[in-house]
Amino acid sequence: VGKSIKRVDAFEKATGRAKYIDDYQIENMLYGITIRSTKQRAEIINIDTSDIPENIVIVTADDIPGENIVALFHNDQPLLADKIVNYIGEPILLLAGPNIDQIRDFRNKVKIEYRELEPINTMEEASSNKITPIFNDNNIIKKYGYEKGDSVEKYFSDDYTIIEGDYKTGYQEHVYLETQGIIAIPKENGIKILGSLQCPYYVNKALFRGLALERDQIEVENVTTGGAFGGKEEFPSLLSGHAALLALKSQKPVKIIYERTEDISFTTKRHPSKSHHRIAFNNGKIVAMDFDFTLDAGAHSTLSEVVLARGALAATGVYKCPNAKLSSRTVTTNNIPSGAFRGFGAPQAFFAIEQQMNHSAYKLNIDPFTLRKQNILLTGDSTITGQVLEDSIMDVLDLIEKKTSFKSKYNKYKNQKKSRKRKGIGISAYFHGCGFTGRGEEVIKATATVDFSIEKGAVIKVAAVDMGQGVNTIFPQIVADCLDISLDKVSMEKANTSKVPDSGPTVASRTTPVVGGLIYQCCKGLCKEIGVTDKSDFLKMAENKLQKGQIISVSQQYKIPKDITWDDDNFVGNAYPTYSWIANIVEIEIDTVTCEVEVEKITAVHDIGKAINPILVEGQIEGGSLQGLGYSAMENMVSENGVIKQNSITDYIIPTSLDTPEIEIFLVEQPYSKGPFGAKGVGEQPLVGIPPAYVGAVENALQAEFFEIPLTPEKIFRVLKGR
Ligand code: MOS
Repeated sequence: VGKSIKRVDAFEKATGRAKYIDDYQIENMLYGITIRSTKQRAEIINIDTSDIPENIVIVTADDIPGENIVALFHNDQPLLADKIVNYIGEPILLLAGPNIDQIRDFRNKVKIEYRELEPINTMEEASSNKITPIFNDNNIIKKYGYEKGDSVEKYFSDDYTIIEGDYKTGYQEHVYLETQGIIAIPKENGIKILGSLQCPYYVNKALFRGLALERDQIEVENVTTGGAFGGKEEFPSLLSGHAALLALKSQKPVKIIYERTEDISFTTKRHPSKSHHRIAFNNGKIVAMDFDFTLDAGAHSTLSEVVLARGALAATGVYKCPNAKLSSRTVTTNNIPSGAFRGFGAPQAFFAIEQQMNHSAYKLNIDPFTLRKQNILLTGDSTITGQVLEDSIMDVLDLIEKKTSFKSKYNKYKNQKKSRKRKGIGISAYFHGCGFTGRGEEVIKATATVDFSIEKGAVIKVAAVDMGQGVNTIFPQIVADCLDISLDKVSMEKANTSKVPDSGPTVASRTTPVVGGLIYQCCKGLCKEIGVTDKSDFLKMAENKLQKGQIISVSQQYKIPKDITWDDDNFVGNAYPTYSWIANIVEIEIDTVTCEVEVEKITAVHDIGKAINPILVEGQIEGGSLQGLGYSAMENMVSENGVIKQNSITDYIIPTSLDTPEIEIFLVEQPYSKGPFGAKGVGEQPLVGIPPAYVGAVENALQAEFFEIPLTPEKIFRVLKGR
C-alpha cells in the first residue's frame, strides 16, 4: 500500500490480449439488434414483421415471460415498449440471426404504425402541467427540499449584498472507448449474462421479474470492461434483458453490441440541469443561500432520484451557511433517459454554487480564493445536514494557493491590458461524498469475502469490477499489505454473481473506502482465525496450522455505526460515510478575436485519505480532469424534438491528447477512520469541479460573467458581442 505498482491488466491491455465482450465467440451464437421508436411520444397501433424471414428470431413485448419492467426504484421503464413509446429510440422489438450484416439490413423492414401524441420537450414544459404527464400526474419523480435556520427571505434585502444567477448545464456523453455489449447464454434452468458492466448484481435484480426467474437463475459475469464512467451502471440491465429475451426464445447464445452512433444516440447521458441560486453576504460572510435545482430525467426515472440527492446535497458547497433553503426536483420529459455519469448530480450543483462564489468575489471586489477561505466549513463544524466533519478542505485550499500563486495571478490578470490575447485563472473548491448518499450503504448491506489456503494464497471475492480505474490492482495491494504476503499470493475471483457475494455496485466513489474497507476487515479476521496479532507472523503460522487443501474464509458485511443516522425527508444527519476534499485551478489564455481558449495548466489538489496506489490515483485525476474540461468547454450535445443532434465522435467533440494541458497533481492524506489504511474515494471527483474553475478563468480574462456550460467559443463570442 502506498506504492505505485504496475497495474495487473497493463500488459494484456497494451498488447491487445485482453478479451472484451465483442471478442467472445460462442458456438451457434446469434447476433441481436434493436428496432426502436422513430416517434418521440406515440401510441403503437400496429407492428408488421411480415417482411422478416422465418429463420430470424423476433421478440416483442408479447414474448416477455414476466412483468414488462426493468426493475429499479419505480419500475416505470419497460423492457420493450408495449402500447406507448416515450422517446425517440425507445426499444420496441428485437431481432436476432446468425449473420450480423444481414440482421442489420432488416432494420428497415419492420413497419410500425403510430398515433402521435404531444411530447414534453423541456423541463419547463414538464413543470407547466399543460401537456399530459409522462410520470405520475405531474412528471415529478422525486423532490427534495428543506429550510434550515431562519427564513432566508429576511436576508435577501438591501441590508446585505445579494448575488443571484440562473445556471444551465448540458448533456454529457460518456464516450467509453468500448460501446455497450452483452452476451446472453441460455443454460439449464436459467440464463448466463456476460457483459461490459459496472454492477453484476444490478442486472439480476433488474431482470428476474421480467424474465420470471429466481434471482439466482440469472448468473451475471463482468468481462474486461473498456471504460464505463457511470454509463455502464444501470443501462446494461436493459441491454441484458434484451439479449436474455432473444436467448430464451431462440435457446441459443445471443450477442448484442451497439455501434457507436446507436450508443451515443440511445444510451443514457448526464442529466441536463437548470438552477437558480441566491446568496446573501454580510461583510464577506455568507448569511443565507436559496437554491432551486431541476434535473431533466428524460422519459424514464432510472436512477434520477439518487442523482438528484447527490446534487441537492451539494447545494451549499463547502461553505458555512446558517440559513438555507433548497427546492429541487427531477422531472420526466420525452427525451432520452438520463442516467449515471461520473459525479452523479454533483457537477451540475457545484457548477451553480461555485459560479455564484466566482461572481460574488467579483462583486465584493475580493479575490475568489480569499472569499472561499473565509467561508469554508472547518473540522468539527456541522454541514448543512448537521453532519459533524472529521476533517475539512482547509489544507487543500492552502496548498493549492501556495502551489499556484492564485491570488497574485488573479489580480494581475484582472488588471491586464485589453490586448487580443488575454490570460485568466479560475478556482473551485468542493467535496465529494464517498459512498452512497444517505441510507444507501445501509440498504445495500455490502458483503466481501477473502479466502486463504496455502495452495491458492488469498482470493478476494467481491462484485466490484475493474472498468479501468484499477480495482484489480489495489485490492490485492490491500490484502498483501494486511497479511504481509507477496502480491503473487493474492488473486481476485471473477465478478460473477454465482461466485462472489454482493459487495454492491461499482459506483459512487465507494469501492476503495467501502468495499476496500470490508476487505481490510476480512484480512483482520483471517489473522484472528490463524491466531496472530502481528501480520508478519501470518504466513508462517498459516503454513503450520492449515492442512493440505484447507481453505479458511472470512466474510464481512457493512454495518452502519450506531452514531450515524440519516433522515431522507428532512435532509438531516450523515449524508455520506466520509468526504474527499478537492480544489482545482485552471489557467487559460483566450484569443478575443476567435474566442478560442487554450488551457495552459490544471492544478488539482485532492484529499483522498490515503493513496493505495499513487500512480493509479494520478491516472484517475488526469483522466477525470480532462473529462471535466470537455464538459466545461467543448462537449456540446443538444436534443431537438427528442433527437440527439451530435451522434458521432465527429460531431460530439471530446478532448484528445492534443487538448490536454499540463496537469499538476498534489495529494493530501487526511485519513478516514473507517477506510482501508485511511483511504477515501477518488473515482468521480476529478471531473466535478473543473467547470467552475474553467469558466472562472475565462471570466477573469474577459471581466465578463457566464452562466452556462459547455462554454463554447460561440457562446463566449455572443456575450462579448452583446456588450
Ligand atoms: Mo456512478 S456515476 O456512481 O456509476
